[in-house]
Amino acid sequence: MTSIFFPPTCVNRRVSVIGAGRVGSTLAQRIAEKNLADVVLLDVLSGMAKGIALDLMEARGVENHDRQIIGTNDYKDTAGSDVVVITAGSPRKPGMNREDLIKINAGIVRNAAKQAIANSPDAILIVVTNPLDVMTYLAWEACGLPERRVIGMAGVLDSSRFKTFIAMELGISIQDIQTMVLGDHGQLMVPLPRYCTVGGVPISELMSKETIDRLVERTRNGGSEILELMQTGSAYFAPASSAYLMVESILLNQQRTMSAAVYVKGEYGLHDVFLGVPCRLGCRGVESVVELPLTEAEQTALKASAEAVRGNIERAKETLAG
Ligand code: NAI
Ligand code: 2OP
Repeated sequence: MTSIFFPPTCVNRRVSVIGAGRVGSTLAQRIAEKNLADVVLLDVLSGMAKGIALDLMEARGVENHDRQIIGTNDYKDTAGSDVVVITAGSPRKPGMNREDLIKINAGIVRNAAKQAIANSPDAILIVVTNPLDVMTYLAWEACGLPERRVIGMAGVLDSSRFKTFIAMELGISIQDIQTMVLGDHGQLMVPLPRYCTVGGVPISELMSKETIDRLVERTRNGGSEILELMQTGSAYFAPASSAYLMVESILLNQQRTMSAAVYVKGEYGLHDVFLGVPCRLGCRGVESVVELPLTEAEQTALKASAEAVRGNIERAKETLAG
């Protein structure tokens, strides 16, 4: 009989969320209220982090959990975290694309990764700040962690959006839907309808090609659609839920398979870039990358996506050097 080694899960779990804005504070709420871990919420605006933490603590009397949530602007308070999630930095404004954020967010993310991991050298680092794939690379370079312990959040969100649009189109429960979205978190993302099913039935059996193409396009523009509606900020409920799923799989060592931005070193024929691919997440971070057979067109699209990210990493490095 083959035995599978599952390392033990963390006991006193602690997650630090850097950036107490909309995504960060909603993620902190999910983590505490689902009783997953204690949370340290760090923001450059110390009063805001402390105020949100206190507000979340005061909800405990109703939500009935005993998780501790503290707010701070001091990285020393994040020491000993099992997972660090970086959400610090600006979101897009209407009319901006994610790449326009490089100048604003590159320095913030690099500094956050360096300081957070200096205080929690055994942590797994999850990056949320945009442009996601570029920021994940910068964070990895800055913090010095092995590549399998640095992961970007986007694929779970993009896959969840695709699932939602399929469920809305067919008028069915989302619970039976599986989707897969690879590539960067931007215009060149690669949704894979071939790997999307409803109760095991390929979606191509349930919808026309035109309908699938329309849902793929809506998925690709999912972030912009919400940004244009909200005007004053970008999506945060679904992003926080998506980051939560990753934190949970890591802390509980669930070994769940999901799409996330991971460092590729030969997988899918790609090298030295963080890009959305299916992977298994457990207490060691990325436990393995799942290599799906791709058609030539899918492989070409993934390569184009990787090249775009690589170009933006170079731009970000130039920005930081200048
Ligand atoms: P937000 O503006 O509500 O919050 C950002 C927070 O970062 C603010 O509280 C700000 O004070 C803080 N901050 C700025 N500089 C800091 C520093 N040096 N140290 C610590 N904290 C600092 O923005 P929101 O909506 O929470 O989005 C955060 C980031 O996440 C944005 O870049 C956004 O584009 C990105 N995002 C990425 C998603 C993804 O799928 N990867 C999904 C949703 C958002
Ligand atoms: C989104 O897709 C802002 O990247 C973020 O909603």
